[in-house]
Amino acid sequence: MNCLFGQVDRNINRALELLTGVTADLYVLPELFNTGYLFNDRAEASGYAEICPGGKTFNALDEFASVRKCYLVAGFVEEDGDKIYNASFITGPDGYIATYRKIHLFNEEKLWFDAGNKPFFVVNVGSVRVGLMICFDWIFPESMRTLALLGADLVCHSANLVLPFCQNAMLTRCLENSLFAITANRTGCDDRGNNRQLAFTGMSQITGPRGEQLCRADRDSDCVQVVDINPYQARNKFLNQYNDLLADRRPDFYKLVNDPLNRN
Ligand code: ACM
Repeated sequence: MNCLFGQVDRNINRALELLTGVTADLYVLPELFNTGYLFNDRAEASGYAEICPGGKTFNALDEFASVRKCYLVAGFVEEDGDKIYNASFITGPDGYIATYRKIHLFNEEKLWFDAGNKPFFVVNVGSVRVGLMICFDWIFPESMRTLALLGADLVCHSANLVLPFCQNAMLTRCLENSLFAITANRTGCDDRGNNRQLAFTGMSQITGPRGEQLCRADRDSDCVQVVDINPYQARNKFLNQYNDLLADRRPDFYKLVNDPLNRN
């Protein structure tokens, strides 16, 4: 969707309007869908921060999930004491489930937010195991690999993508981990004046465990698409009779992956 910077009530209402038009078990909204993305500084981002559960964005979407008996993931600025995080929550028919705090901050986000301080996690949504990540987390293959190793069937990937790489790269992320992913991206542009602008690439998509593009939105329009998936397909990690994508890994040969400072 095209989120309008700073127009929180409008963005919440627009999201609810879009979601109300379709029936699904699980909905995913973009990163920072309620506030917009291009903050001027940390103080401004902080002015939009909400506690979760309990903030007004959470309450509005939680009510939708409760009435419609569905699950919902959405990005927002989370306040926790004097920390603020670029975060997404998941809520469901019985209320709040969990919050993910973006681990890999992109560009100026490092000036606005605290980096996520809690590990990746997977939650049960009915019989499906769902993991959360946010936007730039995609460029670190360790993010989705970790979610795969935690047993995720499906990754809810709220995004505000500005680079042109992610949508195609997610086909590989899903293939290499045998996972479904929902990348819910923004369209439009945040224009904060003084040549301070950022355009978003749209093309939200749902991707399957063999690298299939199950649906993709266009670049510019608000769009809701629903895809029926069989989450159990993600549990088959065999690419062929002999190759299991998780069991065939050779971590003894990747030790540097866990020790980025040791580059020798
Ligand atoms: C991004 O992480 N929002 C590019």
